[in-house]
Amino acid sequence: MSLFLEKLSSGLQEILRANDIASPENFNFWQPCADARFGDYQTNAAMTLGKQAGKNPRELATQIAEAWNARHEKMGQVSVAGGGFINLRLKDDFIVQVFQTYSLVPHLKNKQTFVIDFSAPNVAKAMHVGHIRSTILGDCLARVMRFLGHQVITDNHIGDWGTQFGKLIVGFRKYGSSEKLEQNPIAEMERLYKLAHEASQKDEKVLEEARFELKKLQEGDQENLALWEKFRALSQAAFDRIYERLDVRFDHVLGESFYNPQLKSVVEDLVARGVAQESEGAICVFFDESTLKDKPFLIQKSDGAALYATTDIATLFYRVKEFHPDAVWYVTDSRQTLHFQQLFATVRRCKMGVGLVHVTFGTILGADKKPLKTREGDPVKLEALLDEAMARALAIVKERRPDLSEEEQQTIAEVLGIGSVKYADLVQNRHLDYVFDWKKLLAFDGNTAPYLLNAYVRTRSIIRKANEMGAQKGSLQNDLHPKERELILLLLQWHSVLEEVALEQRPHHLCFYLYRLAGLFHSFFEECPVLKAEPAIRAHRLALCHRVAEMLKHGCELLGIRTLERM
Ligand code: ARG
Repeated sequence: MSLFLEKLSSGLQEILRANDIASPENFNFWQPCADARFGDYQTNAAMTLGKQAGKNPRELATQIAEAWNARHEKMGQVSVAGGGFINLRLKDDFIVQVFQTYSLVPHLKNKQTFVIDFSAPNVAKAMHVGHIRSTILGDCLARVMRFLGHQVITDNHIGDWGTQFGKLIVGFRKYGSSEKLEQNPIAEMERLYKLAHEASQKDEKVLEEARFELKKLQEGDQENLALWEKFRALSQAAFDRIYERLDVRFDHVLGESFYNPQLKSVVEDLVARGVAQESEGAICVFFDESTLKDKPFLIQKSDGAALYATTDIATLFYRVKEFHPDAVWYVTDSRQTLHFQQLFATVRRCKMGVGLVHVTFGTILGADKKPLKTREGDPVKLEALLDEAMARALAIVKERRPDLSEEEQQTIAEVLGIGSVKYADLVQNRHLDYVFDWKKLLAFDGNTAPYLLNAYVRTRSIIRKANEMGAQKGSLQNDLHPKERELILLLLQWHSVLEEVALEQRPHHLCFYLYRLAGLFHSFFEECPVLKAEPAIRAHRLALCHRVAEMLKHGCELLGIRTLERM
């Protein structure tokens, strides 16, 4: 809760206490009014608490209002509406005073440690659009949590161990060469895997061979291990190129293979604790929860092989031991919901005292409302998508700004292209599927990255012009123009918006906030001349411009979107 809301809330709490009404500690009672005609902030405290205390809500509201207006009139006046709503109209000088000391980073009461597991592509395969959401969403959440002051550990749980390597090794030996592999690694690995897979479907012998090579790899055969290392290193280099373009970094890249040596003992440990048990030669966790009753979690196959589930349990044990997190967040699409329900239920039984969240998201769809595919019907590759974003953005920039140098056009196109793809994803309420539409996401009007970046560029250009005139930002005036008032009130919602993003793991709240801020800034600028105003007003309005610029910049940064000084 921001210090500002704390002030308003403790003001109300004081009155409730004086009236013998029990109320929760450290609770934010106040919400911004949806309709500014009623007031700036609103609370339904009299209705909810009145009911609990057996009092008539409207009467209680009236009592509270009288007390508030007598005691806290300096902050603002309240009035009662409907069945007991209390509306608060803040005083201009109070808003200004609060705003002047409003920090960019909210005050953090309870610093926590979060492990965020996101992106996690698979070795020997290109990252596809399914990984784009995880990467963008996970990175944004990590940025927000860090900004709020938490300790964040990002971990890329690469899929670098599994049965696919048997076929890949066979494919490489039969159809591949080191040269070809070096030239275009990922495409070549995909080709080899596909060939071996098809051959194994036709010919039982090839399947046998793949199984044999896999077994050798798992048992530590030097030659196969060296090949696997090579596949892994080449894939990682390709992933890193994409992360570089996306400006995404990880603290750790601990792939599935890292946990391989621990899998046996994890299974034994779960059996010893009575969490897992043998069933028809396999080892499973059975659940009492009604939702999971007939859905046991298989952690060891009857042939002794471990699974994705086993690795995830080992991973969690490791993270708890190593990082002591308060919570672990997993960012993957909603098709993995059952897996994570089972994982969380298993770990809960081990009483590890760690919060677990599956941050799910929907699918990116094409214009036909089916999962986004290329014209050939293959899944769209992330790299190709980013290339297209760049090319489209460059065409737009060239048309808008033919006066700029080729180099600057390129730089702008890069920021615009990548930023637009990211924003299109983050602006969606994450559990929904959304239709990927180039025209829409690159448009300069609408809730898009170009619109936001444009607003930021505008704030910067005003500030630049002011500097050229020698005009400085100054202290805020107490007497506010309605647009200035609206702007300040919106700026004062910044902390709450970030807290909402953190609480729900939903960055779209921040996108909508920034969109409103950009829009309001445009209308403020139209109604309230800045550079042409008389010096005191100009200094006051310049201070507002600086604040808007700062929040837009930080907002974009939290979304993982770079900003531009001009475009
Ligand atoms: N590699 C998996 C995939 O591509 C995602 C892994 C997610 N993280 C985890 N700890 N299971 O679907």
